[in-house]
Amino acid sequence: MEAPQRNLAMDLVRVTEAAALASARWLGKGAKNEGDGAAVDAMRLSFNSLDIDGRIVIGEGEKDEAPMLFNGEHVGTGRGAAVDVAVDPVEGTNLLAYGRPNAISVVGLAPAGAMFDPGPSYYMKKLVVPMAAKDVVDINAPVADNLLATARALGKKVEDLVIFVLDKPRHKDLIAQIRTAGARIQLHTDGDVAGALMAVDPASNVDMMMGTGGTPEGVLAACAIKALGGQILAQLDPQSPEERDSVVHYGLNLEDILTTDTLIRDDNVFFAATGISGGTFLGGVQYTSTGAITHSMVVRGKTGTFRRIISTHQLDKLLQFSAIKY
Ligand code: FBP
Repeated sequence: MEAPQRNLAMDLVRVTEAAALASARWLGKGAKNEGDGAAVDAMRLSFNSLDIDGRIVIGEGEKDEAPMLFNGEHVGTGRGAAVDVAVDPVEGTNLLAYGRPNAISVVGLAPAGAMFDPGPSYYMKKLVVPMAAKDVVDINAPVADNLLATARALGKKVEDLVIFVLDKPRHKDLIAQIRTAGARIQLHTDGDVAGALMAVDPASNVDMMMGTGGTPEGVLAACAIKALGGQILAQLDPQSPEERDSVVHYGLNLEDILTTDTLIRDDNVFFAATGISGGTFLGGVQYTSTGAITHSMVVRGKTGTFRRIISTHQLDKLLQFSAIKY
């Protein structure tokens, strides 16, 4: 038997906390790039203290457009485990800019080579269900069939279900089909990583997530789902002829059905998220007279342990020495 090993997610939560603390200053200010930039700066500095040999697989974009945390960038001290890294310093930049719920900061880690590399793919179709419905859904089946199968697996009626869907014009038919089948819907303008997390968390009132969202966000969600249980089924879903061409040229197959296990090919995965704007799932950053309070989740794939962490930060102390602008 093994002695307990290091849980890298316990280190990772400091990275997401730092990004959340820095970016929450921009809540509702209508400045999504500034909010994102603050989170990126804070996350980058926090990564420097981590003893990992990390390579960013899911980052802020290509080197030319992203000065930091770009795809292929190395993060960490270079000592320690070689890992693939997925980051989204602010998942839901518009949610932050307009002060809407569920903007979160997220990071996932998996052993080097274990994370799906989406290349130039921006969009994927996703179906996320909790553990009990893991084996009963099929991304190519009619919407009504997946709703019925999930309802049965959860011991509910279809009318009881709540489905998280991004409120986008591309989902007009999907929304109509869900309504016709009788299920209920939560429409969110952004933030389908939070949607996926809610779908697999039995404590949340969301039962499923359906629809097309970001491919990087799908890989990030898969890090958490691999650890928490549940299932994400996905299929690359280019939204323009240019995206389709570059995805095919990159060697990815549009017919492939991606699963939790093909998106993250190792159980030794770590995931941390900290709330920025606040929501029912993760509370937002609260600034107090002496500092701030953050709400985070931390998950380790090998053990499946899911921790919720509420941290009290003494900003007056931190600001005396920290290079991060809180
Ligand atoms: P950003 O944080 O990059 O703004 O992404 C927010 C988001 O809503 C994701 O949660 C989702 O996967 C994606 O954008 C959907 O993309 P689009 O808004 O282009 O439909």
